[in-house]
Amino acid sequence: MSRIRIKSAKEIALIRDSSRLSAEILQLAGEMVKPGITTDEINTFVHDYTVKHGAVPSPLNYNGFPKSVCTSVNDVVTHGIPDNYVLKKGDIINIDVTSQLKGYHGDCSATFAVGEISEEAKELMQCSLDCLDAGIEVCALPQARISDIGAVIEDIATERDFTVVRDYCGHGIGRQFHEEPLVLHYRQNRPGPVIREGMVFTIEPMINAGDWRVRTLDDGWTVLTVDGSLSAQYEHTIAITKNGPEILTVV
Ligand code: MF3
Ligand code: CO
Ligand code: CO
Repeated sequence: MSRIRIKSAKEIALIRDSSRLSAEILQLAGEMVKPGITTDEINTFVHDYTVKHGAVPSPLNYNGFPKSVCTSVNDVVTHGIPDNYVLKKGDIINIDVTSQLKGYHGDCSATFAVGEISEEAKELMQCSLDCLDAGIEVCALPQARISDIGAVIEDIATERDFTVVRDYCGHGIGRQFHEEPLVLHYRQNRPGPVIREGMVFTIEPMINAGDWRVRTLDDGWTVLTVDGSLSAQYEHTIAITKNGPEILTVV
């Protein structure tokens, strides 16, 4: 039984506004990434910029999350907590920005290179981005189902000898940060709901260089690859309009 909330054009316009702000913040935060800066400095920028634009950083206090943005470095898959870690050449960092404007959330993330990075890291980042793009393209096909997104993503990652994280997924978004549908990034046995006009959800594949399995630190948030291999992720918020999928998290 599906409880996916279909959004009106008016609501989509509001999610478009918060998504554009999130995308702008993400772009600016990405421009800060260089050797020598701390993840806390990124957090401070994201927090201040969000508030200055009349929005609320959605991560802050969300289920007790202590900061305003997630910063996930190297083998951190997701939900990294900004701290005094100093970025160094060769690191990769995912910055995940969500802001709530006029009651509606917009959610996006990207992975950035810190100076020169390894070939493996470049390929992993490219794979994760290609998985996201392919997942969005699937939404344009007639009668496509939510479950088709994970199928195409798993195919791409597997073909490149990378793996798909199974414990975290994309999600519906709107007045709630996370709502139905669950958007799994791997192939499932059951067909998911048909994608239709008015749905708004994220696609956010987390791709690992090694084992797909993850573990969580005692802080209750930081998710790492079990084998210490690198992980990369990109995320967009997508609205399904009468013309097909529209990426809302663009500047
Ligand atoms: N932005 C993440 C997502 O893509 C969720 C972060 S929850 C937080 O769904 F509490 F860690 F911020
Ligand atoms: Co996010
Ligand atoms: Co998300």
